[in-house]
Amino acid sequence: MEECRNQSGKRQAPIGVFDSGVGGLTVVREIMRQIPEEPIVYFGDTARVPYGSKSRSTIIRYSRQIIRFLRTQGVKAIVIACNTASAYALDEVRKELDIPIIGVVRPGAKVAAKVTQNGKIGVIGTEGTIHSRLYTEIIHEIRPEYEVLGRSCPLFVPLVEEQWLKDPVTEEVASRYLKELQDSGIDTLILGCTHYPLLRSTVGKIMGEKVTLVNPAYETALELKSLLQKEDLSYEGEEPADKYRFFVSDDPTKFQKFAEWILPCSDAETKQIRIDEY
Ligand code: DGL
Repeated sequence: MEECRNQSGKRQAPIGVFDSGVGGLTVVREIMRQIPEEPIVYFGDTARVPYGSKSRSTIIRYSRQIIRFLRTQGVKAIVIACNTASAYALDEVRKELDIPIIGVVRPGAKVAAKVTQNGKIGVIGTEGTIHSRLYTEIIHEIRPEYEVLGRSCPLFVPLVEEQWLKDPVTEEVASRYLKELQDSGIDTLILGCTHYPLLRSTVGKIMGEKVTLVNPAYETALELKSLLQKEDLSYEGEEPADKYRFFVSDDPTKFQKFAEWILPCSDAETKQIRIDEY
């Protein structure tokens, strides 16, 4: 009986999601769409963004602090929404946790390996994600013979944050970044950074309709759904009053604007916290 109550308490706990800033909201958006009943606590490290150009050891240290904070919020599972933090920190922090944790890299890589027809896959992401080669490693675990080509596109993040999604400047930048991938004959391209799904139509236009674009945010939400079912952690009960809670490490104004822009429901208040105290 006691155990039964404990389990139902766990089911009602929120999912913890974190990212270096606003970009992880693309993952939150997919979770809201795929499993709308799940409460979410989100942390965006807006004071220390970008993660994409930082070292592995720094990203691991930041991720540990954020996980300590999320645990104070009683989360039942954690999603690392940031590709760079998934690539650098997931394996390290997973060993230290007694709740499920997933990143965005493995779900994206698995789907890319499944959908490619010619075994040539492109990955775009931050310098950190591409340098880690994790997408390549996971694809090679599944199909060692596949060719994986990586390209970092650092200017995409600020362009998305300016909301210049279909702007001629963005199109020009994207054409330059994607030229080599276009010529390489890939038939699948992983949008391996939180911000890039918002550039889907620009990237799609340049790569052409024969190239399948993989959105790791979408695949991660699906993986989270089956993980919660497997662990008997899927939400059950009345909708809680504070279903979505957002926290950031810098002034919340810009974050809130971005959230209003991309989330289906973003009326929750965003609070600023001192992440270095965790
Ligand atoms: N969230 C990061 C990622 O997906 C992109 C922004 C950054 O560099 O921090 O890799």
